[in-house]
Amino acid sequence: MCGIVGYIGSKPGKDIILRGLEALEYRGYDSAGIALLDGEKSQVFKRIGRVNGLVQEVEDKAGNAGLAIGHTRWATHGGVTVANAHPQMNSDHSIFVVHNGIIENFSELRQKLEGAGYQFESETDTEVVPQLIDYYLKQLPSFTAAFEAALNDVRGAYSIVAISTREPETLYAARLSSPLVIGVGEHENFLASDPSAIMEHTKKVIYLEDYDVAVITKDTVDVHNLKEDKHISPKVELLDYENKQALLGDYPNFMLKEIFEAPAAIRSATLGRAVAEQNVVKLGGLESVLGQLKYIDRIVIVAMGTSYYAGLVAEYLIESLADIPVEVQLASEFNYREEPFSRSTALLAISQSGETADTIAALKKVEDYGVLRLGIVNAVGSTIARMTDAGVYCHAGPEKAVASTKAFVAQVTVLLQVALCLNDGRSKRFKPLIEELNKLPAKAQVILDQADAIKTIAENYADYRDFLFIGRHTGFPAALEGALKVKEISYLHAEGYAAGEMKHGPLAMIDEHFPTFAIATDSPLLEKTYSNIQEIKARKGPVLALATEGNEAIKELCSDVIYIPDTAPETQPILQVIVMQLFAYYIAIKRGNDVDRPRNLAKSVTVE
Ligand code: F6R
Repeated sequence: MCGIVGYIGSKPGKDIILRGLEALEYRGYDSAGIALLDGEKSQVFKRIGRVNGLVQEVEDKAGNAGLAIGHTRWATHGGVTVANAHPQMNSDHSIFVVHNGIIENFSELRQKLEGAGYQFESETDTEVVPQLIDYYLKQLPSFTAAFEAALNDVRGAYSIVAISTREPETLYAARLSSPLVIGVGEHENFLASDPSAIMEHTKKVIYLEDYDVAVITKDTVDVHNLKEDKHISPKVELLDYENKQALLGDYPNFMLKEIFEAPAAIRSATLGRAVAEQNVVKLGGLESVLGQLKYIDRIVIVAMGTSYYAGLVAEYLIESLADIPVEVQLASEFNYREEPFSRSTALLAISQSGETADTIAALKKVEDYGVLRLGIVNAVGSTIARMTDAGVYCHAGPEKAVASTKAFVAQVTVLLQVALCLNDGRSKRFKPLIEELNKLPAKAQVILDQADAIKTIAENYADYRDFLFIGRHTGFPAALEGALKVKEISYLHAEGYAAGEMKHGPLAMIDEHFPTFAIATDSPLLEKTYSNIQEIKARKGPVLALATEGNEAIKELCSDVIYIPDTAPETQPILQVIVMQLFAYYIAIKRGNDVDRPRNLAKSVTVE
């Protein structure tokens, strides 16, 4: 969603901020802005649309100020206008604030400030922050005290960065439920909501924690925790981030690049973990809690979107392999439910970004229950990775396209290994599955080698308005994920259904204008899926089937068939989803859509 970059040092801040904002573009945004401070001289540039719309103006008009903040905004409070873009300012334009998150009590604060004579220029919740700082500056001895007083009034979630002409040598930053990282340099320091914005300058970072307030000069970082009212010695960590993975290379966009990284994602997710020669699954991240895991008799999985569908696949895998009952909930629903939760239940959060607000809130909800909190996370060092008791990284590398692709592949690969780890070698499936995981990258590559054929088929479907995706068993969540991919990047109506549900309603929609993508790979349930396909054909619905190599008979039943290599039932969803990612991708490209930045969506949903 929104992105923040900040810089203090002696280089031209504008260059660092613009590069950083470009690096954050993948998160989704609709306007961008920068504030620069050179002593008491300030400059502000704001634009609707892409960062590159801002570049020329900044390069032409901005000085070489060494104190700068920048922001990409994804509209929540107030429309997409220049006035609503950040930085937001106080009335005399001496305080500049960028903010990610939502200030829930902003109308109450705004009323209070309006009562005190303050006038507002935007419709944003953010504008109350510089005005509040201004309000407290009139009563308190220092900017830091005014900043903290303002934060004490604010309810909600935020990462906030402020600068002021009154303190032109300092960056002020604060975090509550929204990520913010300080990059530590030599006589310079950086700030960002996502390390990818600053990693080209420094690998040394300090992750701010909830309620931390940082006062940063070019040589010092001073952190005070508001809740505990104490000074913190900041822990400097080293970023473990592969720069080249964040670059596009020869691909036309990140989505295609990331789909094609599926074999590498499976390899990294299994490397040193599922070791066929030794017949073991070693998940280092779970080692510290293996003893506790023996007493777990129920797992509740919480996640959103694609990660939720990975969780639904895991439900089948963990229940059948580890014999532990699993319940999967959308974190946004879990957070407002009252349900019994015993100590022997573990909460497992799945998230690519590790920054999804609802999933973080779910972990917070059980904070005092004394239950084990586990995480399956891709982004190293993210909030969820840091707040869970133990967990396993997906190691898929940075995912930049808004639509999640390789992360799903890695999540299911990791979750299968979690199931095997919980199974501890008891099931007959243990050894064959480890062997299959080792063969899977090559099988994923076989699918990618057919990309041109999938493109041809997808383009023939690009003019339909509606799609149904059906599957059974783990093919059901895979169908949900296929439908989500089409919705997100093609803006077409697509629904995922359990094939067995067809006669209970969805069949009524079927006619010659409503195609079905039927997951019909080899399984004991295949004949039942054939019956569903027959029912659809009888109503003239076009059917594109996804089948296992060698199934020639299915061609008689369907308009089109795409094949995947034979694989275990447990690993099928991984291969099935790669096909559906390509299918959705080529439809979206044919329709002329921006696949990396689909309209109305953001990469990391850091507000509820
Ligand atoms: C879909 C997609 C989203 C995310 C969801 C959760 O392609 O990207 O549905 O899966 O917002 O995000 P994470 O996994 O970062 O928690």
